[in-house]
Amino acid sequence: MKVFITRRIPEIGLNKIAMAADIDLWEEQLPPPRAELLRRIAGCHGVLTLLTETVDAEFFDAAGEQLKVVSNFAVGYNNIDVAEATRRGVRIGNTPGVLTDATADMAVTLMLTAARRIVESVDDVRAGKWKTWEPLGYIGQDLIGRTLGIVGMGRIGTAVARRCHFGWQMNILYHDRHTNEEAERELNARQVSLDELLTQSDFVSIHTDLNETTRGMFHAGAFEKMKPTAIFVNTARGPIHCESDLAEALRSGQIFAAGLDVTDPEPIAPDSPLLALPNCTVCPHIASATVASRNGMAEIAADNLIAGLRGEPLRCPVN
Ligand code: DGY
Repeated sequence: MKVFITRRIPEIGLNKIAMAADIDLWEEQLPPPRAELLRRIAGCHGVLTLLTETVDAEFFDAAGEQLKVVSNFAVGYNNIDVAEATRRGVRIGNTPGVLTDATADMAVTLMLTAARRIVESVDDVRAGKWKTWEPLGYIGQDLIGRTLGIVGMGRIGTAVARRCHFGWQMNILYHDRHTNEEAERELNARQVSLDELLTQSDFVSIHTDLNETTRGMFHAGAFEKMKPTAIFVNTARGPIHCESDLAEALRSGQIFAAGLDVTDPEPIAPDSPLLALPNCTVCPHIASATVASRNGMAEIAADNLIAGLRGEPLRCPVN
């Protein structure tokens, strides 16, 4: 069996795969250019992909009919046309669960960073602009007892809510198609409309997948409904917020600050208006970047790939 792996992943996963298949590994830091990707997957039985690879009809055509499985090294799979894969009998796997805590920690980190103006303060210290302790300097927002609005109350949203409820006695509102009874019982969380969440929340944190409903969900109209003291955090997918509308909301004081681990595009354009704003923290999509999470992702991605090659049920199937 022949597999193409589109980037070096932790050894624990590579070693497993090496025992089950012949590996062609893309060793570069940047993703394989599209033409190279299509060339390298030709004749493969399995492909291990990242979010940077678009897996669509063209991809499946280039791979050929022997392709059995695409194992995505991510919990999200908006880069994959799952319906097309299913139509062609190609199995798709993802890596849920192992990155829940790391991603929740990142969301809380961004909440605190934005609320306490950390990036702005550190930048000033480094630039020698901080002159003295000031009673009115660098005033931020508290978390204690405030209201957190979670958009997408799945595994990660619930983990963020738990941290904030038990850590800072925050009130939890959430917006989701599904009722999360466990969160309602355990955290006293309340399911509300998006409008109510926007108007009532002091912090709004995004944990939904990217789909046609959530794409562009945070546009000017949404930011207008938020409090001027509110903080917007996105650790899910960049296209869920509209970059220019967010920049305007931050610039005009419509909202207080934002913390982003995801942008659209990635990497963010060097001339993005967000990068010039002191009240916007932008990180390079690192929420799952911990040793345990990435090793866990590598193990699941390897197990999915190997099971797919063998025609067995995937450990974490998408289709
Ligand atoms: C995912 O897994 O979907 C993240 O965005 C990368 O860890």
